[in-house]
Amino acid sequence: MNIEPATPKLGAIVTGIDLNKATEGEWRELYQTFLDRLVLVVREQDFTIPQFLAVAERFGRLVPHRVQRTRHPEYPALTQMGVNTKKSDGKVDQAVFARGQGWHTDGPWEVRGVAKATQLYGLELPSVGGDTWFANMYESYEALPEELKRRLEGVEAEYVYGGRNKSGIDLLAPDDRDAPPVRWPILRTHPETGRKSLYFNPHHFLRFVGMDEAAGGALFEELKEHMIRPDAEYHHKWQTHDYVIWDNRSSIHAAAGGYPVHERRIHWRATMLE
Ligand SMILES: [Fe+2]
Repeated sequence: MNIEPATPKLGAIVTGIDLNKATEGEWRELYQTFLDRLVLVVREQDFTIPQFLAVAERFGRLVPHRVQRTRHPEYPALTQMGVNTKKSDGKVDQAVFARGQGWHTDGPWEVRGVAKATQLYGLELPSVGGDTWFANMYESYEALPEELKRRLEGVEAEYVYGGRNKSGIDLLAPDDRDAPPVRWPILRTHPETGRKSLYFNPHHFLRFVGMDEAAGGALFEELKEHMIRPDAEYHHKWQTHDYVIWDNRSSIHAAAGGYPVHERRIHWRATMLE
């Protein structure tokens, strides 16, 4: 097994291993790399669905995603990304096609526990674009102005699926739209590394706890400005058979889009809680 940094501040590229046959020692090394490098890319993997889900269970508690319509019918914990991008009238369904675009952490609305990690497996890729971008949120925290760090101490935000504008809520079954908001501190200490990071998701954001509309709106804009450190990004260019997992507690990501709507971009996805 060979592990190399993808960029100086995050990401690791792993080659020379078949995850279906990894030893306990290799799993320990991979898990430590996941914590240290935030994003783990393992090239040239060959998975069946049960094998892909077995790998997920190495990293956390596997749960079905709240969006039911993209679950695999036989394996509910498997989400199929990029399928059913067209509506019955043949038009592109933007809620499905553009899913995951814009910087976000996965599952801040998750009521069942901390959304620890997400993993993807690249099956079909477009001829151009379709990258996934990642950014290091420890770095974002450390780079905050000291005055802003002090102001953010103790501040909590509430999240619901789709946020204030209910965007993308069409993906949810009607019964799944009324889950209560979930609260997270903006400055979070990682339970395994002990490091502090910025934790913020503008897409699913509802409000800051105990803050009025004007003050909350101003802080929201300020945080959006400080959210990403351009020198702490990794832009992943997919190869088919890439397996990618990231730590949702210390990183943020975005689907870059930028590929033709008639081209397919298919990934398997699984979500793990702490
Ligand atoms: Fe995501």
